Amino acid sequence: MRLNEARRDLYRRLAREQGYKSRAAFKLIEANERYEIIGPGYKVADFGAAPGGWMQVASQLAGPDGVVVGVDVSPIRLREKNVVSIKMDVHDPAVAEKVSKALGGKADVILSDLAPTVTGVWELDQTRQIDLTMRVLELARSLLKEDGVVFCKLFEGERSQEVRVFLKEMFRSVRVVKPAASRNESSELYYYCEGLKPAPPG
Ligand SMILES: C[S@@+](CC[C@H](N)C(=O)[O-])C[C@H]1O[C@@H](n2cnc3c(N)ncnc32)[C@H](O)[C@@H]1O
Repeated sequence: MRLNEARRDLYRRLAREQGYKSRAAFKLIEANERYEIIGPGYKVADFGAAPGGWMQVASQLAGPDGVVVGVDVSPIRLREKNVVSIKMDVHDPAVAEKVSKALGGKADVILSDLAPTVTGVWELDQTRQIDLTMRVLELARSLLKEDGVVFCKLFEGERSQEVRVFLKEMFRSVRVVKPAASRNESSELYYYCEGLKPAPPG
């Protein structure tokens, strides 16, 4: 067994043992230990949330006074009381209003682990993944509090530089995170962004 497969198996087993819907949960746990992304009472929007591992972690961190709203084209089935699941495409024009209503205001944190169904043709997969991320950044303009945080996945490739420039124009601080639980997917990185700048005129 290769090291990457062994690591993937380890996180899968850990997720099962700890009752998480996906091994992805550990990426958010690790990032949160480093950056304290989510705290008690936070309003959290999670895009590309199925099957719900990140939502479970966010739900625990936000606690009973917080709310976690997850959006995905696939169904999300969770028992936690402070979560709301929305089955919708992020490109749907109604998504911002739906999420805002479910949050009961603007978000303290926007999470995005969005990924297309991969074809194996990297340029195509990367372009699709970046389009999804750019859509979340567009939604963040209306959904995120001024002092809020975006934590989003990005497939690395030819278009990465374009997105990094965009992120730096949008936020005062942009930091790259590579969680240990993500090391096997060598071409995925996470970006922790805070300090939303005012939208450019026009
Ligand atoms: C890596 S998975 C997310 C895993 C999740 N963070 C967890 O912890 O369980 C990526 C998700 O993005 C979703 N997705 C892809 N394109 C989408 C779109 N256009 N709108 C909404 N969700 C989408 C997929 O259905 C998939 O569930």
